[in-house]
Amino acid sequence: MTRMIDRTAGLGALSARALAAPVLAALALGLVGASQAQPQPAPPAAGATAFTTGGCDTPTTAFCDALMPPTPGWKGHVFKLSQTYPASAPPEPQFPWSKFDPTKQPGEYLKAALAYFYEGNVRSSVEQSFDPTLNKVRVWYNAPWQDVGLNGREFIHGLTRERVSLPGELAPQQKKKWNNYAVGFYNAPGGVVIGQVWKDHGKPNPAASAFPNGTVAAKLLFTTASAAEVPFLKGSPTWNAYVYANPNDPGPTPTSPRKALPVRLLQIDIAVKDDRVAATTGWVFGTFVYGGGPGGPAGSGWTNVAPVGVMWGNDPGFSGSGTLTQTWLNPAVHIPHVGFQGRLNGPVDNPASSCISCHGTAEIPAGVMVPPGGQDPSRWFQNIKSGQPFDAGRQSTDYSLQIEVGISNFNKHQPVVNATSPQDRTIQLRKVLEGSDPRSPRDGAPTH
Ligand code: HEC
Repeated sequence: MTRMIDRTAGLGALSARALAAPVLAALALGLVGASQAQPQPAPPAAGATAFTTGGCDTPTTAFCDALMPPTPGWKGHVFKLSQTYPASAPPEPQFPWSKFDPTKQPGEYLKAALAYFYEGNVRSSVEQSFDPTLNKVRVWYNAPWQDVGLNGREFIHGLTRERVSLPGELAPQQKKKWNNYAVGFYNAPGGVVIGQVWKDHGKPNPAASAFPNGTVAAKLLFTTASAAEVPFLKGSPTWNAYVYANPNDPGPTPTSPRKALPVRLLQIDIAVKDDRVAATTGWVFGTFVYGGGPGGPAGSGWTNVAPVGVMWGNDPGFSGSGTLTQTWLNPAVHIPHVGFQGRLNGPVDNPASSCISCHGTAEIPAGVMVPPGGQDPSRWFQNIKSGQPFDAGRQSTDYSLQIEVGISNFNKHQPVVNATSPQDRTIQLRKVLEGSDPRSPRDGAPTH
């Protein structure tokens, strides 16, 4: 069953530009003491350097860990961006998913990729799981420049704000809108490429984004939704995250307060670069839902997840009736929606799109991710080969939207990076934030 839901419902009236008296979030939180009377920024709190003080994300510094430093007195987990990108990846004897043909054994393929992502990342402490500094099996890397704007990385687990789940999208009982948050990781082959794209911290090179066979990108998506409204979340691994204090607010502003709230694992996204599907796109995308979705079996912990499906192409020209041949959906899972015409999408995702449709637009300058309402969507459901841009004349970022979003954020923040004084930096930051969209890029907000 596919239900079409207006992706901008409830958000359309909200424009960041129209917000009353927007103030830089960090200023409102008292993290930066810049004012007429006190022109020098306060030193960053211990643990992390904040972007607001110019201590990171500049051509000569490391990338920032998060949008804000830990709150004073914080004793819990603190996210460190895994940014020691390697020059080459350690040899892997055999990628575990390579035993399975993604087009014929999609479920087994996806489970093998998940087991690889879990190895060394799942720990007895839920809060310390998926911390690359603690993984003894293999190092995972995070993409830089996801730390800015209204949806930028929070300091506890590096989560960025994602698409809002509308009533009924997650479960029939769901009445409210709920905010979602996520963090993504690349394995070493992917980390090499991220490192090459961002080799010069002052001049990213999107042309270096050609991921080798065996690259894995994986993303954990957490929801603020309650188990009362979304019953299958019962037993889900729960993280604390420094998120918007009102979990039902679909349009946070620069002054919206944040606080540490529990967020529950809802979805796990995986993308694998696999030369065996080079004739369609070169990528296999798959997703899991916690607890198997509505009506799924009871259970708990990281392993209580079920594949929703796998896709390796967009089924160009599909009319909407008949059978998709490049998406496999798990018949045991029943989410209220998947993607356009039954193509794969995750519970958090936009029903008008699909994994490969949205990721196929990854390019610099950024393209339009989701088919605009009222337009023929067929262009968004082609098979775009790895390396080919969505729009003629642009530079493909090989299905990586974190590279696209990161470089777009970098470009947007050049007036901040080049500010001539701490006061000027604050003014420039405020300008960028006032012009930013409260929708996440995954919700169709422009990234340029
Ligand atoms: C409407 C657009 C959209 C759809 C649909 C979508 N994504 Fe993404 N995805 C994004 C954006 C934007 C990012 C980068 C920013 C971020 O991480 O939030 C991203 C990031 C990712 C990443 C991290 C690596 C990268 O490529 O940037 C993975 C892995 C991923 N998505 C997998 C999936 C899977 C699997 C699906 C389908 C189940 C999916 N995505 C559907 C927009 C989308």
